[in-house]
Amino acid sequence: MSTTVIDSRDVHVWYGPFHALKGVTLPIVKHEITAFIGASGSGKSTFLRCFNRMIDTVSYARAEGEIQMNGNPNILTKDTDVIALRSKVGMVFQNPAPFPKSIYENVAYGLEIRGHKKPGGGLLQWGKRRTGEEIEWSKHPVDMAVVEALKDAALWDEVKHRLDLSAYRLSGGQQQRLCIARAIAVKPEILLLDEPCSELDPISTNHIEQTLLKLKTKYTIVIVTHNLHQARRISDHLAFFHAGELIEWGRTKDVFESPKLSLTRDYVAGNFG
Ligand SMILES: Nc1ncnc2c1ncn2[C@@H]1O[C@H](COP(=O)(O)OP(=O)(O)O)[C@@H](O)[C@H]1O
Ligand SMILES: [Mg+2]
Repeated sequence: MSTTVIDSRDVHVWYGPFHALKGVTLPIVKHEITAFIGASGSGKSTFLRCFNRMIDTVSYARAEGEIQMNGNPNILTKDTDVIALRSKVGMVFQNPAPFPKSIYENVAYGLEIRGHKKPGGGLLQWGKRRTGEEIEWSKHPVDMAVVEALKDAALWDEVKHRLDLSAYRLSGGQQQRLCIARAIAVKPEILLLDEPCSELDPISTNHIEQTLLKLKTKYTIVIVTHNLHQARRISDHLAFFHAGELIEWGRTKDVFESPKLSLTRDYVAGNFG
């Protein structure tokens, strides 16, 4: 049986006077990958950014309607604890954007700002602290969370011997997996990704897709993608946006194989966008 994790009803967004999102109603199903597709400017990112109130970073943006997570009160109201919401709803952006810090510190970051202190300056590599102390295994919660996140993001084997390396020394694909690790280290329930592969080569893209397919057993994933093949390969449900409206939503296979509307048919056939 499928469970709805995010239930959106009649969501509208305005940027100043511009009506960018026009009454979107859509369920996001637990432990699935939902893909948002549609031409550039159709409102995909705008809608995605409502889920963790990143939309608030635009001072003149206004969101109305109802978004419930696990049946809790509407997150679009003023009383929402945005910090708590964002620890439940992690986000990965288009450009891999690690901090100018070590691999270890990038992943530990979210835990540190939530008050967990990293031990002895963190790990230099697996088995060794920055202080030079040799360790067999760490039971420190920050170390354990960093290791688990790097493993889940399928980056561990590539970095376990150099956790002290600057994140900037990693390839673009590795940096994006590091950003995924950083987002999941604080154990969110939902992971939002806004065109995470658009800057990556096909091999790195494939690596991210395989990672997401594994991650959906633990997280509910919503991904905005320009790449129809990607949407078809990895998503369970598909939402097609056009000019600020949700045009069609359904099982990915159904939307690709038997779209209900001609606009959807044209888009998935690659006729525009
Ligand atoms: N910060 C902003 N200020 C004004 N208009 C914006 C802003 N962000 C997005 N828009 C507009 O809102 C519409 C939807 O944009 P967006 O959600 O980014 O689309 P998509 O992610 O599908 O490409 C577009 O017309 C875009 O120009
Ligand atoms: Mg966008």
